[in-house]
Amino acid sequence: MEKRPIIIDTDPGCDDFFAIMMAAAYEGFDIRAITTVAGNAVVDVTTRNALDIAKLLGIKTRIAKGAGSAMMHPFDEPAAFVHGLNGIGQVVLPRSEQKVDEMKAWDVIYDEACKADGQLELIPVGPLTNVAIALLKYPDLKDKIKRITIMGGSTTIGNCLPYSEANIFHDPYAAHLVFTSGIPLVMAGLDITLTALVPTDDIMKMSEDIKNKAVRDTVVQLAKIRGNEPFHDVVAVASVIKEDIAEYKDYNVEIEYKSPLTYGRTIVDTTFTTGKAPNCRVMTGYNVEAHKTMFADMMRKY
Ligand code: BDR
Ligand code: CA
Repeated sequence: MEKRPIIIDTDPGCDDFFAIMMAAAYEGFDIRAITTVAGNAVVDVTTRNALDIAKLLGIKTRIAKGAGSAMMHPFDEPAAFVHGLNGIGQVVLPRSEQKVDEMKAWDVIYDEACKADGQLELIPVGPLTNVAIALLKYPDLKDKIKRITIMGGSTTIGNCLPYSEANIFHDPYAAHLVFTSGIPLVMAGLDITLTALVPTDDIMKMSEDIKNKAVRDTVVQLAKIRGNEPFHDVVAVASVIKEDIAEYKDYNVEIEYKSPLTYGRTIVDTTFTTGKAPNCRVMTGYNVEAHKTMFADMMRKY
């Protein structure tokens, strides 16, 4: 099987951990890089986590540090109540000796896009700052990326404001640049990822199949800390692996980046009232049983 080149752009993050774990367990991916961004914690912490997660899971790839704040405003306070101060619920991972890539995240994205000859797929599961900076810095990048599958946004409810999901809320202007880039986009929105719950008891059971003790211990700790909360970011990765795990509709999606009440809202034109052409394949349904099966299969790979 020819491996598909991907980059995971991430702010680990408990659910980011499982997204990286699923991507690394899939033989069909060639993970060209993991790029980090501020979100669930400050960027130095999310980068440290990415390095340590890669070591734990045996991922050999470049890890590049990205943006420490949004494009148009300072860094939002990390969601410590969700992810703990270290972004991963205070779980301590074995420390990696790997050095951060010499290039910044946006340069690595461009570098790998050039090398991948139009085949590179991005899977951003944090704020979209790195991708937006890459697009601004390298205007030809938009023609070099095959597809971007985003965990972020929502067709209905939000988690930072009533209608604003965290990854878009933390940098709506970056999201605006990505959603107007013309690159094929898939949106795994919060309204869908909230349905993709693998109950903690099930994860405990599944984790018995993990042979690597350090990985098993980490999975158990993260699952306990997380409680019965879905791992949102996994949905984006799972849908890139198995496209038919979800249902999709093509809609026009615009990002609100000015209004305080709806700051960071994804305006999904489900009623086609704007008459604007669709720019995004929006997830509208998800096969949760297939998701659980993928979760269980993933555990057996470690
Ligand atoms: C998203 O926000 C972060 O807290 C999670 O890692 C996920 O990417 C969910 O809204
Ligand atoms: Ca994330």
